[in-house]
Amino acid sequence: MIELRAATEADLPAILRITNEAIATSEAIWATSPRTLEERRQWMSERQAAGFPVTVAVDGETVLGFASYGPFRAYEGYAKTVEHSIYVSPDAQRRGIGRLLLDAMVTHAEKAGMHVLVGAITASNAASIALHRAAGFGESTPLPQMGRKFGRWLDLIFMYRLFDTP
Ligand SMILES: CC(C)(COP(=O)(O)OP(=O)(O)OC[C@H]1O[C@@H](n2cnc3c(N)ncnc32)[C@H](O)[C@@H]1OP(=O)(O)O)[C@@H](O)C(=O)NCCC(=O)NCCS
Repeated sequence: MIELRAATEADLPAILRITNEAIATSEAIWATSPRTLEERRQWMSERQAAGFPVTVAVDGETVLGFASYGPFRAYEGYAKTVEHSIYVSPDAQRRGIGRLLLDAMVTHAEKAGMHVLVGAITASNAASIALHRAAGFGESTPLPQMGRKFGRWLDLIFMYRLFDTP
């Protein structure tokens, strides 16, 4: 049975493996060099110290995916806007795990009093776009050639949920 829980130190090797697989093989993340365990440790501890979620989807002991959100941009005006990311291990995709993780980010952001949850999604990432559409996210017009990977320019779409924040 798939369960969601807050990530711990013991989950970092799996989070690292899933992240680096996406970096090496997909246009979902516009990084090209692999992360290290130390970088992931630092990332997780900064997120958790700031009260942001780092959530894993597990089947027993096995981590099948993770999600997190953090600051969108540093300026004060963006304080109520957070940017999320979701990664599901390729062998565990299309089993509803991405949707569970996305719903958990929505619930956390709303409870935390955020106003916008936004994902920056490569325009060619049909799976992520379909996932966010199915979850009722709005979407921006694609911004052309915002980045580059695997020798070609990539377009970017922002997909967002707004919450009733005073
Ligand atoms: C995008 C991603 C997180 C989706 O996770 P997932 O666990 O496979 O998604 P789910 O099984 O929960 O799918 C939920 C819905 O999203 C849509 N969807 C997911 N994958 C899809 C695909 N490959 N093609 C079309 N629609 C897809 C469908 O509407 C699906 O519902 P359905 O299965 O009932 O039709 C996953 O493909 C992934 O980790 N990709 C690599 C990293 C990435 O792109 N992350 C997002 C960066 S913003």
